[in-house]
Amino acid sequence: MEKIVIEGGFPLSGTISIGGAKNSAVALIPAALLADGVSTIKNVPNITDRDALFDIVKLLNCDIKQDGNVINIDTTNLKNVLINQELSVKLRASYYFMGVLLSKYKHVEIYFPGGCNIGTRPIDIHLKGFKALGAKVTKRKHKYTIDASNLVGTEIKLDFASVGATINIMFAAVYATGRTIIKNAAKEVEIINIMDFLNKMGAKIEGAGTDTIIIDGVTKLHGTEIEVIPDRIEAGTYMLAGALLGNNLKVTGIIPEHNKALLNKFDEMGVNYKLEGNSIILNKCENLVATDVTTEVYPGFPTDLGQPMSVLLTQANGTSSMTETIWENRKGHYPYLQKMGANINLENQTAIIKGKTILKGTEINATDLRGGAALILAALIATGKTTIYEIDYILRGYENIINKLSDVGAKIHLEQI
Ligand code: EPZ
Repeated sequence: MEKIVIEGGFPLSGTISIGGAKNSAVALIPAALLADGVSTIKNVPNITDRDALFDIVKLLNCDIKQDGNVINIDTTNLKNVLINQELSVKLRASYYFMGVLLSKYKHVEIYFPGGCNIGTRPIDIHLKGFKALGAKVTKRKHKYTIDASNLVGTEIKLDFASVGATINIMFAAVYATGRTIIKNAAKEVEIINIMDFLNKMGAKIEGAGTDTIIIDGVTKLHGTEIEVIPDRIEAGTYMLAGALLGNNLKVTGIIPEHNKALLNKFDEMGVNYKLEGNSIILNKCENLVATDVTTEVYPGFPTDLGQPMSVLLTQANGTSSMTETIWENRKGHYPYLQKMGANINLENQTAIIKGKTILKGTEINATDLRGGAALILAALIATGKTTIYEIDYILRGYENIINKLSDVGAKIHLEQI
């Protein structure tokens, strides 16, 4: 077991390079199993969610070769076996094997997925989509068995623009007979990355990135290669670090368009930044202006940046608000920010944040992935020493976060507990 120890108040200078998007990679890895043969996925981030997926791919008797952030997956000897509960609960994205194995073998046995405790996290929209295609879902306690004699394309209107359900139904539809149209599809950019991978395999998909995705079923998919797009949430997290403590901090390897909602808020607050191609340079600003933030589906302000953003709001002059509309419980970090001295009042899904407050170092716990990232940002600006426990949450989604921050001047290190 380890904890993160941070001495706050040190400016951040130098360059942080952004890795591959976690929420793309965790769908691309299962997607590789749709193809017959070897697929190559480049720019895969070195995060524990990746390792959890590797365990499932190996359980299914596929061969994985890894060379740095390039992985090769060979499905030649794939065996469609039960994905046990221990592996299924390791991460939310295990549910992508439902769509993949149902699509290819018309049968899958898996347990309910895991993921950060940010809400009940149902999968009813996924299952409704599978049933619309002709599948039968049997649930015994937490184990799902999904079968179909045949999957037939149809029109499916999602009750909510769910990222996971959009992707999972795309997986289930690629081998279905005929055309599937997904209406009210999620528009997150990671879905375009997955569509590109499937189309390079020989699938016939169009419309990812819009609210209507059309999939014409095919009978064969071959191995191919794809590169994971940059992680817009990792990028946004380090951009917030630059807004808080930057001294010409450069965040590079980004796609600015993917962070438009955050940059719009930076403009409202008077954050000092300059865009240069696929990089952004940030400097700390003493007079940040308070603002109101509401998380929304893409291209709105991303729910995954709501918690890190709340730390910047504690440093703005005046009263700000952070309203979370996607998940019921992205509030785990607020009690710890209050313990550090932040002036925050919770009103249901809205946090009223009064700034500017001095934060003081203390002992705190990460409660989930993005809440943990928020606490790291808070510790970086706090006076004195902060110790953060339960850091496994953070290591699930932020590649080399300790080194990336210490390399630009943060006084941050890991200690054994
Ligand atoms: C993906 O989760 C991301 N995870 C989440 O990032 C992200 O917060 C979320 O999309 C929204 O952008 C991965 O991609 C692995 P949803 P997902 O289905 O697909 C409800 C992070 O920090 N819903 O879009 O699980 C659900 O309860 C993680 O990197 C249903 O009701 O999110 C939630 O309120 C956290 N029924 C809302 O929709 C369903 O069947 C959004 O869920 C599915 C979802």
